[in-house]
Amino acid sequence: MKIAIIGTGYVGLVSGVCLSDFGHEVVCVDKDPAKIDALTHGKVPIYEPGLEDLLARNVEAGRLSFSGDFASAVSSADAVFIAVGTPTRRGDGHADLTFVYEAAEEIGRAITGYTVVVTKSTVPVGTNAEVERRIKAVNPDADFDVASNPEFLREGAAIDDFMRPDRVVVGVSSERAADVLADVYRPLYLRDFPIVVTDLESAEMIKYAANAFLATKITFINEIAALCERVGADVKQVSRGMGLDNRIGNKFLHAGPGYGGSCFPKDTSALARIGQEAGMPMRITEAVMDVNDRVKRRMIDKVIDLCGGQLSDQRIVVYGVTFKPNTDDMRDAPSLTILPALVGQGAEVRVVDPEGRREGETLLPGVTWFDDPYEAATGATAAILLTEWNEFRALDLARLSDRMETPRMADLRNIYDPDAVKAAGFAEYVSVGRA
Ligand code: UGA
Repeated sequence: MKIAIIGTGYVGLVSGVCLSDFGHEVVCVDKDPAKIDALTHGKVPIYEPGLEDLLARNVEAGRLSFSGDFASAVSSADAVFIAVGTPTRRGDGHADLTFVYEAAEEIGRAITGYTVVVTKSTVPVGTNAEVERRIKAVNPDADFDVASNPEFLREGAAIDDFMRPDRVVVGVSSERAADVLADVYRPLYLRDFPIVVTDLESAEMIKYAANAFLATKITFINEIAALCERVGADVKQVSRGMGLDNRIGNKFLHAGPGYGGSCFPKDTSALARIGQEAGMPMRITEAVMDVNDRVKRRMIDKVIDLCGGQLSDQRIVVYGVTFKPNTDDMRDAPSLTILPALVGQGAEVRVVDPEGRREGETLLPGVTWFDDPYEAATGATAAILLTEWNEFRALDLARLSDRMETPRMADLRNIYDPDAVKAAGFAEYVSVGRA
């Protein structure tokens, strides 16, 4: 089967590489010639474990290629996936669909023979119907169907999520399109992963509902964590006790500094907007967005308290600034709220992050970057554990406290055992939801 993927961002690239690994013939198309050139030379512009190797393997096998030639990639494809960005539109919180509609119209002009146009980008309910309308408008004779195939990849675990999904969601409006998508995902059928076939609108809604629900779950436990601190409970024990109930489940129940990333903030905001426009406000989602902002700000207060009420003569070392481990993605990372506040209040801020520096250097002015966690801690008056990279999960705490002027730690991911931290020489240790 021949597949064209429009957009070589995160979702497009991972999908293209994995679909070629299924055995399909895949061309990934992008307007940016520099990106195509880099990818053709095997250079992956994002950090995603395993992606570069899998890409190289499939390029070598002749199944995967990169091109700027939109028309020829689309005209020979049986299925064209739209995987362009849908950023939050400035000012109103809505998903910006400019790139999706531009891609749809270009596809419309290039289509030859029956083609299924599949939207992978996260788009509001009704977008696929509009994609169909726009294709028809530019090419009334086009033989095509549209389909919605939302993506549930987690950054840092994207290949595994693609190859071993909990489910694949496919929204279609014809049997013929359903058959083409069944062919696309046949390797998964063989391994018995559930494929949920729905109408277009339901597939579009599933994606927003799933992300909003996960953001809600995280935010719920973050709010419980704040209460635990007040009443003397331990949120780790609470979340274990809750999560063992199968109806609740233990995933996405880790308290922390607030959710971030390229998806939850954008999708909750878009869902809230969709609700407002439909006259059905999404009150829970709106509250989640508001509480998540407060959670991030609460972390700033935690650090200020740890440092005795003011930051002007403090040297603070921060471990991890990406929104989560195993990614270089800084979008909406809690660090972008927390660090500028510390710098603004006069602290000297030192940062260590295995992959965050390239993007972080422009996003976090006024901080100093280090590679070595112990060197960074020299003379520090507080350490903040902000993103739970593996290399920060087993720091030599005694060595760290030796290096610091005042050994104090804010563990915002609840990685360490409070007693072990104190035994290693830390005078003060605060975490999230543990009194
Ligand atoms: C999320 C979803 O998990 C994917 O299923 C979805 O496909 C993706 O969005 C998307 O819409 O494209 P991602 O943003 O890569 O994936 O990252 P997550 O692992 O979901 O983490 C999101 C945020 O929640 C991070 O800031 C993380 O630190 C935070 N988090 C997660 C917690 O604070 N506690 C938890 O228990 C879990």
